[in-house]
Amino acid sequence: MFADRVLSGMRPTGSLHLGHYHGVLKNWIELQQKYECLFFVADWHALTTHYDSPEIIEKNTWDMVIDWLAAGVDPSRAILFFQSKVPAHAELYLLLSMMTPLGWLERVPTYKDQQEKLTDKDLGTYGFLGYPLLQSADILIYRANRVPVGDDQAPHLEFTREICRRFNHLYGKEPGFEEKAQAAIKKLGSKKSKLYSELRNRYQEQGDESALEEARSLLEAQQNLNLGDKERLFGYLEGGGKMILCEPDTLLTKASRMPGLDGQKMSKSYNNIIGLREDPDSVRKKIRTMPTDPARIRRTDPGNPAVCPVWQFHLIYSNDETRKWVQQGCTSAEIGCIDCKSPLIETILAEQAPMHERARMYEEDPALVRNIIADGCEKANQLAEETMRDIRSAIGLNYA
Ligand code: TRP
Ligand code: SF4
Repeated sequence: MFADRVLSGMRPTGSLHLGHYHGVLKNWIELQQKYECLFFVADWHALTTHYDSPEIIEKNTWDMVIDWLAAGVDPSRAILFFQSKVPAHAELYLLLSMMTPLGWLERVPTYKDQQEKLTDKDLGTYGFLGYPLLQSADILIYRANRVPVGDDQAPHLEFTREICRRFNHLYGKEPGFEEKAQAAIKKLGSKKSKLYSELRNRYQEQGDESALEEARSLLEAQQNLNLGDKERLFGYLEGGGKMILCEPDTLLTKASRMPGLDGQKMSKSYNNIIGLREDPDSVRKKIRTMPTDPARIRRTDPGNPAVCPVWQFHLIYSNDETRKWVQQGCTSAEIGCIDCKSPLIETILAEQAPMHERARMYEEDPALVRNIIADGCEKANQLAEETMRDIRSAIGLNYA
């Protein structure tokens, strides 16, 4: 009943590296071709863990947007904005907090996990407990039905769906719903209202899914029906109340998991990253000094790509032909590790060249980035307000 809309956010807690590019941004760039997309800097979320070092967030917020743009996120296709510049996220977060059972938050697995992992920080805070709820507000406020995130975020999406159902259940049943739905049916005109009622009966009495589908497309096509009535009639089909918020689905990422220079997951805390816009000399040096099969001590020793981090990079960057050349040359000691690394260096530098170029344009003209964000924040505020009006009215907060 709601149009497809993609939303995702990133916390500005550090600068981006190739792991973000291959794991997240490439996917965003594909999604922006197909869907209405909203991408935002989750600066409030960053504060839940970095409340004692806000300067990190301030520094990374703008850089992160430049990284996105450098990677190819297109501001003419996607709406880019800062979470803290759309105050309605906070309003919805507060309203949702009223009906969120504490136990639901305490049971989100990331809560205890992160507290145990990040021992250098006191995460026994109200804000940190509320992290998944703030994320729910981010998503629900745009009625985003598709949220591309990694598996680490799956519990937050599940939590969001539960909150959404609870909200619709509590507030979706407006007084006089039945009468209002009947009145809305009349507005369809005699032929269509008859068809709608027949389809609804067929679905409710016989569970006929195709009737449900047909009724939905009938409603979809109604241009003279206002949004409230349309939503009512969608809700009425299934017998319930009005669907105020929309349950989001996780959008499975095709993107690959990028290993770091040492073969572990690429992560700033492992000190094994290549920055998204790292300068070419430094990239060359990092690849050249990258560890290889530890058993391959001399040039004449054959190696085993399966235990070599360089091979992991070939899996991301190289075509079949190059991979065959590596397998053959390594296991027979026909090629040395330096030879093996050189096509990788070329490919990575070629991948980064357009990023450097785009970034240069934005760095030279900071007003460009500021305008993109100002524009995105304005659009996001408008979309958020549309949902907030329905939410306030459902909760009974729409006094003049
Ligand atoms: N929690 C997400 C992360 O750490 C960031 C995030 C905040 C987010 N709000 C969101 C992602 C809403 C998707 C949708 O990666
Ligand atoms: Fe690794 Fe390539 Fe050296 Fe083989 S030749 S050990 S795959 S770097």
